[in-house]
Amino acid sequence: MRIVMIGSGYVGLVSGACLADFGHHITCVDKSAAKIDALEAGEVPIFEPGLDTIIEHNRSSGRLDFSKDLSAPVAAADVVFIAVGTPSRRGDGHADLSYVYAAAREIAASVEGFTVVVTKSTVPVGTGDELERIFREEFPDKDIEVVSNPEFLREGAAISDFKRPDRIVLGTEEPRAIEVMREVYRPLYLNEAPLYFCERRTSELIKYAANAFLAMKITFINEIADLCEQIGADVQKVAKGIGMDKRIGDKFLHPGPGYGGSCFPKDTLALVKTAQDYDSPVRLIETTVAINDNRKRAMGRKVIAACDGSVRGKKIAVLGLTFKPNTDDMRDAPSITIVQALLDGGATVHVYDPEGMDAAKDLLGPVTYGSDAYEIAEGADAVVLITEWDQFRALDFKRLKGLVRTPVLVDLRNIYPTAEVTRHGFSYFAVGKKSEKN
Ligand code: UGA
Repeated sequence: MRIVMIGSGYVGLVSGACLADFGHHITCVDKSAAKIDALEAGEVPIFEPGLDTIIEHNRSSGRLDFSKDLSAPVAAADVVFIAVGTPSRRGDGHADLSYVYAAAREIAASVEGFTVVVTKSTVPVGTGDELERIFREEFPDKDIEVVSNPEFLREGAAISDFKRPDRIVLGTEEPRAIEVMREVYRPLYLNEAPLYFCERRTSELIKYAANAFLAMKITFINEIADLCEQIGADVQKVAKGIGMDKRIGDKFLHPGPGYGGSCFPKDTLALVKTAQDYDSPVRLIETTVAINDNRKRAMGRKVIAACDGSVRGKKIAVLGLTFKPNTDDMRDAPSITIVQALLDGGATVHVYDPEGMDAAKDLLGPVTYGSDAYEIAEGADAVVLITEWDQFRALDFKRLKGLVRTPVLVDLRNIYPTAEVTRHGFSYFAVGKKSEKN
């Protein structure tokens, strides 16, 4: 099949490269000339494990190419995916659909023959209907069907999520479109990934409901973690104990500094706004958003408390800045708020992240960037672990103890057993577990 991916950002590139790997011919289009030039020169503009190899392999096999202009590839395409950004609109939190509608009009102008236009970008309920209206009214001669096909990729695990999905949601009831979408995903269907067809509006809502539910699950365990600290229980054991109940499940029950990233914060807010517009508020999600916002600042206070109530004049070493490991993405990362709280408290902050420091430079205040965990720990009054990169999972505490001024570890991801840290003479502060001072 000939498929065009409009938007060569995170979703477009990963989906395009993986679909090419299935044997389809893919053209990834982007308006940014710099991005397309870089891709054509063999550079991958985002950090995603395994993506560069798949891109390279499919380019050399002739199944994947790039273009700044959509007209020729769209004219030849069976399917066109819209994978452009839908950021939160400034001021009101609604998803900004201007890129989606602009792309749709350009696509329609170039389409030849029956073509399926698929929304892969996260779009509010009703966007598919609006696209259909635009196509019908403004391009009455064109034969286009609109399908919703939300993506459920996690950054850092996107390739395996694409190739081994729990399900593929497809919003269409049109027989011709169903047939085309079955063909697109046939290789996954053979792998027994369920194709779940439903109405387009339902499909659009599934995406928001899934992300909101996961955000709520994280927020739930974060509040239980706070309660554990007060009553002397261990949140990791609580999570395990409830997670063994299959109705609850053990995933997304890791407490931490609050969820961040390009999806949960934006999508929860957009769902709240949509629900308010329809006069059917989603109060659980409204509360989730508020709790998560407060939590990031609260984590700053937690670090200050671990430093005996003040960080003024103290040096704090921060390990990990990105919103999660295996990405260079700093969007809505809890580290931004936590670092700011420490700076506001009068601390000198030294930071290190394996991939996120370039992006962090525009977002963090006056901090010092180091080249590894041990360098920034020198003379520190506390080491604070914010993102659970693998390289922080086996810190050499003996070496660290010799470097720091005060042996305090604040582990906001609970990656260490308390005893392993304290036996090296460190005070250990985690999330939802009893702190141990040395
Ligand atoms: C999320 C969803 O997991 C994907 O299914 C979805 O496709 C994607 O959003 C999207 O809408 O595009 P992502 O934002 O890449 O993926 O990352 P997650 O792994 O879901 O993590 C989100 C945040 O929650 C991170 O800050 C992470 O540290 C936090 N988290 C996650 C926790 O604090 N605890 C957990 O147990 C799990």
